Amino acid sequence: MLQRFVVSVFLFASVPLVSAQAPSAPGKPLPPGPMQAKVKAACTQCHNATRITEQHLTRKQWSDQLDKMEGLGAVVPESDRNEFLAYLTKNFGPGKGGGKTAVKKASAAN
Ligand code: HEC
Repeated sequence: MLQRFVVSVFLFASVPLVSAQAPSAPGKPLPPGPMQAKVKAACTQCHNATRITEQHLTRKQWSDQLDKMEGLGAVVPESDRNEFLAYLTKNFGPGKGGGKTAVKKASAAN
């Protein structure tokens, strides 16, 4: 009886912790590439890279994010913008390898 109570308290207590920050997971680092250093410099001043690495956005959505971040104070040089978008979309695009998966799913459904 008491044991069951303890277990449920533990479960309830740990849920908000996990959803808030997932403290046990350090988060994925930014993948290496020519843009890694630039993105790291421009984008990890206010929040860590996890904010970026957990996203799955289209190029258009990343473009909107860059606009939003610039509105908040981020500095993305106009000349680098295309490369930022290419890097972000390549690594954090909508469903990694999504093209292949989508094709597979489509053919499996038939
Ligand atoms: C001046 C500080 C600042 C800089 C620099 C910055 N961000 Fe942010 N970013 C924020 C804040 C504040 C939020 C939270 C905004 C919110 O929740 O509405 C955020 C949230 C985000 C999110 C999550 C948005 C969401 O809808 O949850 C992404 C993705 C993101 N930033 C990407 C970037 C990228 C890419 C860069 C580099 C170009 C960058 N940020 C640079 C302040 C910054």
